[in-house]
Amino acid sequence: MRMYDLIIKKRNGEELSTEEINYFIEKYTSGDVEDYQASALLMAIFFKKMNMRETVDLTKAMMHSGDVIDLTAIEGIKVDKHSTGGVGDTTTLVLAPLIASCGVPVAKMSGRGLGHTGGTLDKLESIKDFRIGLSIDEFTNNVNNNKIAVVGQTKNIAPADKKLYALRDVTGTVDNISLIASSIMSKKLASGADAIVLDVKVGSGAFIHDIEGAKELSKTMVEIGSLMGRNTIALITDMDQPLGYAIGNSLEVIEAIDTLNNKGPKDLTELCLNLGGKMLLLAGRVKTFEEGEKLLIEKIESGEAFEKFKEFVSIQGGDVSVIENIDLLPKSKNIYEVKSDVDGYIEKMIADEIGICAMMLGAGRETKESDIDLSAGILIRKKVGDEVKKGDIIAVFHTNKDEEVIKTVENRFFKNITISKNKVSEKKLIKAVVTMDGIDEF
Ligand code: URA
Ligand code: CA
Repeated sequence: MRMYDLIIKKRNGEELSTEEINYFIEKYTSGDVEDYQASALLMAIFFKKMNMRETVDLTKAMMHSGDVIDLTAIEGIKVDKHSTGGVGDTTTLVLAPLIASCGVPVAKMSGRGLGHTGGTLDKLESIKDFRIGLSIDEFTNNVNNNKIAVVGQTKNIAPADKKLYALRDVTGTVDNISLIASSIMSKKLASGADAIVLDVKVGSGAFIHDIEGAKELSKTMVEIGSLMGRNTIALITDMDQPLGYAIGNSLEVIEAIDTLNNKGPKDLTELCLNLGGKMLLLAGRVKTFEEGEKLLIEKIESGEAFEKFKEFVSIQGGDVSVIENIDLLPKSKNIYEVKSDVDGYIEKMIADEIGICAMMLGAGRETKESDIDLSAGILIRKKVGDEVKKGDIIAVFHTNKDEEVIKTVENRFFKNITISKNKVSEKKLIKAVVTMDGIDEF
């Protein structure tokens, strides 16, 4: 088999066989296929597309390019949640203890991520002494005994995807449905979950900007999961403005604590109840989504969900006093209020740009090597649809950077929000639910 022939075949719009896809992934992972040939094939796939069979084969090949985690030592149905990524997404921090408090095992492998803020691991590390490096035995035991553990991803999950994703990133071949779906699903499937709930973000803060694209991506991922024997559901949710109020690491830990105590932002709470209700359903813990949602609300109102969070932090070595007294979390030196200079209604908040503002204040990594400031970020005070008066605080910056940076970020922030004279309606958060039975749009 020769890479050259595969490239020509796809360039001419033909279907690649299972053997050809396996060959490509194997040889590219081992370094026997060079980046220039892989890039050419990716570009051919981008233009000529892949059918479902090819997409599933690609997913399987990437899934098996490294370790496939065996979670069978953990009792019960393990449901994993995956978000395609957005700005200020605090859901994992809330959902992990919330689901565990319902008696459903949460065996979560998380990443750090590049971007506006750190990943779930960075957020958890803003809790003093929190340990993310559990051995596989500790991980298994913690989930069996306490229903919850969160660890850092082992290095060898879908290495083919890691390499290909980096290549796609610099060759203009990221936004192809088959390539995105296989990339995400190969990692999820290799992480050992029995069932998967996907949160597919759509809007200015997501990499899919239109609802049609989100539906197609969701359908493809749900089909891949189901064909691989994993019950899979996708929710399509709004990411046109940041989720909740907090964007930043310790700021989001506080937001998660508030949400677990029933004092969280409306949108974040709604998203957690929706995703969580589906997770309980797939775990077989409840018979209907409505029953699941009701149980989650009970667990929040009774305080059990918050207790589970404290237990989880304590078992992984974290300092629980930080959870009880959030003043002990990392704090920025400079707190700066961004005020409106007009009257009106918030019409738009370009999510990814607001995310970049948070990153510039120190909350995220610009490159893999950059340091992250766990205390830094943005607390938004107004969301789309809210009325503002001249002088009202729209957002509060938390940062250790100097005044010059703060001013630059403030300018960028103002460029990316629109305040209208006319009343603006609130945005709908949950846009659709996608299952093997079809799409329900709201
Ligand atoms: N996230 C991924 O993991 N892969 C993609 O291709 C796009 C987003
Ligand atoms: Ca948030």
